Amino acid sequence: MKITLDFDGKNFHNADLKITTVTKDKKDISYKGNIEEVLENRDFLKAGREFKGDKNETFTFDAENGEKVIVLGLGEKDKLTSEDFRKAISKIYTSAKSLKPKTIGFDMDSLPKFVDTKSLFHITHEAIALTEYKFDKYLKTKKEETLKEVILYTHDKKLKNALQDTLTKSENVTNSINVIRDFINEAPNVLHSEEYAKRIEKDVKENLKNVKIKILNKAEIKKEKMNLLLSVNAGSAYEPRVVHLTYTPKNATSKTKHYALVGKGLTFDSGGYSLKPAASMMGMKFDMGGSATVYGAFRAAVLNKSPYKLTCILGITDNMVNSLATMPDAIVTGRKGISVEILNTDAEGRLVLADVLDYASSLKPNFIIDAATLTGACLVALGIEVCAVLGNDKKFIDSVKNSAEKTSEYMWELPIIPEWREDMKSKIADLKNIGTPGRAGTATAAAFLENFIGENISWAHLDIAGVCDSQAHLPYCPPKGASGLIVRTLHNLLTNG
Ligand code: BES
Ligand code: ZN
Ligand code: ZN
Repeated sequence: MKITLDFDGKNFHNADLKITTVTKDKKDISYKGNIEEVLENRDFLKAGREFKGDKNETFTFDAENGEKVIVLGLGEKDKLTSEDFRKAISKIYTSAKSLKPKTIGFDMDSLPKFVDTKSLFHITHEAIALTEYKFDKYLKTKKEETLKEVILYTHDKKLKNALQDTLTKSENVTNSINVIRDFINEAPNVLHSEEYAKRIEKDVKENLKNVKIKILNKAEIKKEKMNLLLSVNAGSAYEPRVVHLTYTPKNATSKTKHYALVGKGLTFDSGGYSLKPAASMMGMKFDMGGSATVYGAFRAAVLNKSPYKLTCILGITDNMVNSLATMPDAIVTGRKGISVEILNTDAEGRLVLADVLDYASSLKPNFIIDAATLTGACLVALGIEVCAVLGNDKKFIDSVKNSAEKTSEYMWELPIIPEWREDMKSKIADLKNIGTPGRAGTATAAAFLENFIGENISWAHLDIAGVCDSQAHLPYCPPKGASGLIVRTLHNLLTNG
């Protein structure tokens, strides 16, 4: 399915199914949209008397010429938000598709101008492209696809270049989200650490030609003294990987800001010797979601020519059990020379991140952002809907939150207080890997990570344990499976600062 622009109305008029919109303010149903002939159809006017234009109210009719038309209500214009609009487009797209048209024509001129025209096109594209995603590679019988094209129609020819550019940029983001949704949804027996790194390498080589790629294998990881990452990998049948990607914009100078993105890439988290109960182990293929999220944001920002220097570092392994696997009580000293008493092998994400955050710090970026499905406590604090953000620089955290707000993604800041830093200290090693059970688990994890951030680096940590998958409340996310959330927040930050 492709999404195209139409400025002379030809493709729109030939579409099998048309969608137009009204707001509640236009109480008079004889409202003349851009498809006047269709809307003036008398049957429609009669039958449509009950139609008020309430939010998400729809009215479908067949015009005299056989055209099928859906009128979508958007409620009151003044109350409409970007997220309401994104959801409304997603829902109407799904119901329009169920009528099995080959082409859908969208009357964009009928939209209320509650934001600028470019944003209307941007959100519409985003909603459709994200709703279109499915993960069906393992189904013998796949759902038949009839829809070939969605045509976005406006008469405003002078916006042609600007709108084409808007769509291309949005496509770079939505494609990146759908690529990482595939990574996250892939089965963990297939997508083990070695395979995951290979798939990223393939994607980079095919789509990000100006990106340098380095993949550290086990021997190279050992040479780097990343013993905390290696301790998590100790029980694995597969080698760990550290993926290191570098993008330098054209015209970069020594003053160009440098962002390092760091991700937790646990292709499966069994808990290790601190084994998870069966019910909690299900879904732990999503434990590489943080690495996929930062890769998706990196990918989108590179394709959209970010003005910043970008580094993306992914720590990849699974957390399994065999006779070589790390046992609770082990003490391991990582790349930075900080010793850690590992009291719970299920608190493995922070161990992997510790070494890769230190590795990232050695590159001396101005900013580090890490994303991780780090703590179950995050779901207790903020549900599955809200991403937690913590860090060491109020201004930087605010800019991340601001970016989340601009892209309609939920994010909430949690504090790191001296008492929780204290809670992570061990009596026999520099740190321990768990805090007091049942107390501020998301923040104590961040207090642990903070030790591995280099001096003068602004750092934001995103705990995506809740938002990474199964966002059934968002029509543009699959009800089950990878959401792809937070890529839009990070892409916005990395392209607009
Ligand atoms: N990957 C989990 C966190 C998680 C839990 C993500 C539920 C998504 C849904 C992480 O490695 C983990 O197991 N954390 C422990 C830490 C604890 C032992 C301090 C947790 O949250 O229980
Ligand atoms: Zn764990
Ligand atoms: Zn984990």
